Amino acid sequence: MDRVIIFDTTLRDGEQAAGGTLNIQEKLEIARQLERLGVDVLEAGFPISSPGDFDAVRLIAKEVRTPVICALARAHPDDIDRAWEAVKQAKHPRLHVFLSASDIHLLYQLKKSREEILEMSRGMVARAKKYTDDIEFSPMDASRTEPEYIYQILEAVIDAGATTVNIPDTVGYAIPAEFGSLIEGVFQNVPNINRAIVSVHCHDDLGLAVANSLESLKRGARQVECTINGIGERAGNASLEEVVMAIKTRRDFFNLTTNINTTQIYKTSRLVSELTGFSVQPNKAIVGANAFSHEAGIHQDGVIKMPITYEIMDPRTVGIPASSLVLGKLSGRHAFKERLAELGYSLSEEDFNRAFTAFKELADKKKEITDKDIESLIAEELRTGSEVYHLDRVQVSCGDRGIPTASVKLTTADGQVLADAALGTGPVDAVCKAINRLVGVPNVLTEFTVKSVTEGIDAIGEVLIRIESEGVTYTGRGADTDIIIASAKAYMNALNRLLAAKRVAG
Ligand code: KIV
Ligand code: ZN
Repeated sequence: MDRVIIFDTTLRDGEQAAGGTLNIQEKLEIARQLERLGVDVLEAGFPISSPGDFDAVRLIAKEVRTPVICALARAHPDDIDRAWEAVKQAKHPRLHVFLSASDIHLLYQLKKSREEILEMSRGMVARAKKYTDDIEFSPMDASRTEPEYIYQILEAVIDAGATTVNIPDTVGYAIPAEFGSLIEGVFQNVPNINRAIVSVHCHDDLGLAVANSLESLKRGARQVECTINGIGERAGNASLEEVVMAIKTRRDFFNLTTNINTTQIYKTSRLVSELTGFSVQPNKAIVGANAFSHEAGIHQDGVIKMPITYEIMDPRTVGIPASSLVLGKLSGRHAFKERLAELGYSLSEEDFNRAFTAFKELADKKKEITDKDIESLIAEELRTGSEVYHLDRVQVSCGDRGIPTASVKLTTADGQVLADAALGTGPVDAVCKAINRLVGVPNVLTEFTVKSVTEGIDAIGEVLIRIESEGVTYTGRGADTDIIIASAKAYMNALNRLLAAKRVAG
C-alpha cells in the first residue's frame, strides 16, 4: 500500500496542550475543517475525561461523516463503554484503547506486572471489539519499552481484534534510526502483523517528531498520528502539515501519497491557531508567516527570475492566498463576498451580513483592508456568535494624571442590559474590573499579549488573554483597531468560554 493514513489528533492530544481548551462549537468547527482538509481519521476526544469531551465527541460523530471518528479510552471497561457511547453514531466509528507498556510506567505508575498488562490489553481490545470492528491499540511509552515485549503485546491485541497497532513515542525520546528499527522489528517479529495497519504517534520533546514519523514510513508504517501546527502535550506532536508536505514534495524519495487536500492546510492552521489561542511562530515550516517570504537580495533575485531557484513548494499548494488584493471603503457586498470565497470562507446569510457590517465599520477607520484584516474580522464575528454576555459598550478615560476609569455595558442572550464602572491601575485593568463586577466569576489573568495584524498606525490589534479559574486555563481573543477595545473583547471572550465550560459541567 502506498497511501499513508493521516490520523489527526488535534482535538484530543492537541487539546491536551496547556491552555488549549476549546468549547464544543469550536471543536465542531475545527472538525468540519479537518473533514475539508481530507484527514482519514479524526480523533475527536477522550470521552471519559470530562462531560464536555463526551459531548464534543458525540456531536462530531453525528455531524462529521466522511472521516473515521475515533474516541480514546484507557484499557478499562468504563472508559471503553463511555467512549463507545460517545462515538457510536459515527458513520465510521473507531475505538482507540491505550495502556502503558514500559517498565518505568509499570513500576512507578501502574504498579503492575508485564503479565497483567498483557492480559488487560488483550481483554480490553476484546471488549471494544464487541462494539465495533475498527479497533486501534497503543502500548504507551513504546519507545522506552523492551522491543520483545512490544512484539508480544501487539501479537496478543491483533489476535483479540485490533486492526491498527500504534507505536507511540509518548515522551519524545526516540531518535529516527532507532525508532525506525523498532518499526522494522515489529514487521519482522509480530507473526500476525499482516492483519493490522502499523501506525506511529511521535511527540516533539527533542524536536524529532516529524523526522521519527517519516523514518517510520520508510520502514513500513502506514498511519501517522499528527496535529495541526504540531500542537499537543508538552512540546507537541508531529505536525500534520510538515508530514504531509514532506511526503508530497519528496515523492521521489518516499513514493507515497496521502488523501490530504493540501490547499486547505493554511486555512486549517489559521483556524486552529485562532481558536486555541496558540500563535504560529513566524519561522514555522509550511504555515509560518515567513515560510515563503524571501529577504536576502540574492534569493529575491532568484525567485523573481524563476521561483524554483529558492522555493521547493509553491505557496498556493498549501492554500496561501496568491493575491494580496486590497479592499477599501468603496468595496461593496459583491467584492467582499468574492474575497471571502477566495479565502475559503462560506458564511451563512446571517453571518455574512454581520461580517459585512463589521467590514464597513473597519473600512471607515482603516484605508486599506488586506486578507489578514479580513481573517481577523471574520474570526472576531465567529467568536461573538455564541456568547453568554455580549460586550456592548466600553468607555475609558486615562492619561498621565488621574486614575484610569472604565465603564462598560453588557447584554445577555435574553436581552438583559447590565452596566457598571471601575477604577484600575491602567485602562485595561479598569475595563477588566468593570466587567468582573458584572459577571462575578472569580478568575486570575495569567497572560496578556498584543500584536498587530498588519503594519501601519491604523492596523488591527489582536489581543490574547488567558485567565485561570479553579485550576483551568481559558483563552480569549479580541481584535479591534483600538487595543483597549480589543482587550475588552478578549477578556469577555475568555470569560464567555469559562462560563460555557461551567454550564456544560453543570
Ligand atoms: O502519547 C501517547 O502515548 C498518547 C497515546 C494515548 C497514544 O497520546
Ligand atoms: Zn500523545
